[in-house]
Amino acid sequence: MIYVFNGPNLRRLGIREPSIYGADTFDDLVKLCVETGKELGHEVEVRQTDDEATLVGWLHEAADGKIPVVLNPAAFTHYSYALRDAIAQRTAPLVEVHISNPAAREEFRHTSVVAAVATGTIAGFGLQSYVLAIQAIARMQ
Ligand code: DQA
Repeated sequence: MIYVFNGPNLRRLGIREPSIYGADTFDDLVKLCVETGKELGHEVEVRQTDDEATLVGWLHEAADGKIPVVLNPAAFTHYSYALRDAIAQRTAPLVEVHISNPAAREEFRHTSVVAAVATGTIAGFGLQSYVLAIQAIARMQ
C-alpha cells in the first residue's frame, strides 16, 4: 500500500489556476496514481483535505501502519510546523511532491518547512511529479 495525501485546494485541480497547475482534474490525478501503482504492483490510496488536523491524523495513521506516503502538502509546505512534526514520526519513506516548481515562484514558496524530514522532494513536473514519487517509493520497497 502507498498513500497519496494532498493538502488544501488540490481538490480544485483543473479549475484552479490552470496556467500553473494544468487542466487535469483531481479525479484524473487519482486515476493516474492508482494506475501507476497497479503497474508497479502496489495498491495506491489517494486522499485530499483542506484541513491541517486531518492531514496530521493521516500522517499518524501512515506512521503507525509503516505505510509509505507521497505528500503534496500544498500551502502547508511553507509554514506548518505541525505537519513537519507529524512527518518526522514517519516509519516508511515519504516523498514531498509539488505540481509546480515552488523555487521558481513567489518568495514565500521558496521555503519548505517539511523538506528536511521527507525522504526527498520532487517538484515541477506537473502531475508527473506524483508518478515519479510512486516509482521512487516502489523502488525502495
Ligand atoms: C503546490 C505548491 C504550493 O506552493 C501551493 O501552495 C499549492 C500547490 C504544488 O503542487 O505546486 O497549493 O504544492
